[in-house]
Amino acid sequence: MKLLHIDSSALGTNSVTRELTAAVVTRWQDRVPGLQVQYRDLDANPVPHLTGRSLAKADPAEVADAEQVLKQFLETDVVVIGAPMYNFAIPSTLKAWIDRVTVAGTTFRYTENGPEGLAGGKKLVIASGRGGLHSGAPSDFQEPFLRFLFGFLGIEDVEFVRAEGVALSPQHRAEAIAAARGSIVEPICEAA
Ligand SMILES: Cc1cc2nc3c(=O)[nH]c(=O)nc-3n(C[C@H](O)[C@H](O)[C@H](O)COP(=O)(O)O)c2cc1C
Repeated sequence: MKLLHIDSSALGTNSVTRELTAAVVTRWQDRVPGLQVQYRDLDANPVPHLTGRSLAKADPAEVADAEQVLKQFLETDVVVIGAPMYNFAIPSTLKAWIDRVTVAGTTFRYTENGPEGLAGGKKLVIASGRGGLHSGAPSDFQEPFLRFLFGFLGIEDVEFVRAEGVALSPQHRAEAIAAARGSIVEPICEAA
């Protein structure tokens, strides 16, 4: 069984989502013997933004990296993504990664009946960190975007591990992280 661990926070050791993705991955490792974990830190090792040169496949190193990103995503059973809210949405580094796994004809296609996701069957865990309170608010362009995007790719099994209001006070931050840790769902290991 394979798990792909993605972090995107720019806040290093002070990151909430890095702490939460690590907790989720540790839980999976504890429950699934032999779990193969692959890791990409999009802050330290970003995927280039998608440009005309990318689409023209002008840079062989970029093409190779994009192919590796897509292969890792297609082959994995579980995806754990650290997704902070930055300016009401996601970090541009995470969007750049998403642009490489959202590929017509590979992870989705259009049919006469509308779009069809081709990347189903995966479990997705998203560690969400937000400074303010946005659940259900029109300011949330982070979690609804991620749910819609991965649903579009066919991934419906999505769990959010959410710490919000972390900027309100140190106490809010501590309580939000504790609540998020407590909300981590026990891995379902029938694919192991
Ligand atoms: C560049 C930047 C932009 C942010 N934008 C928002 C925002 O729009 N709304 C919000 O509630 N919090 C915002 N925050 C606070 C983060 O969502 C919060 O610190 C969260 O813990 C980030 O996750 P991380 O600690 O893993 O990076 C922002 C933080 C940074 C560094």
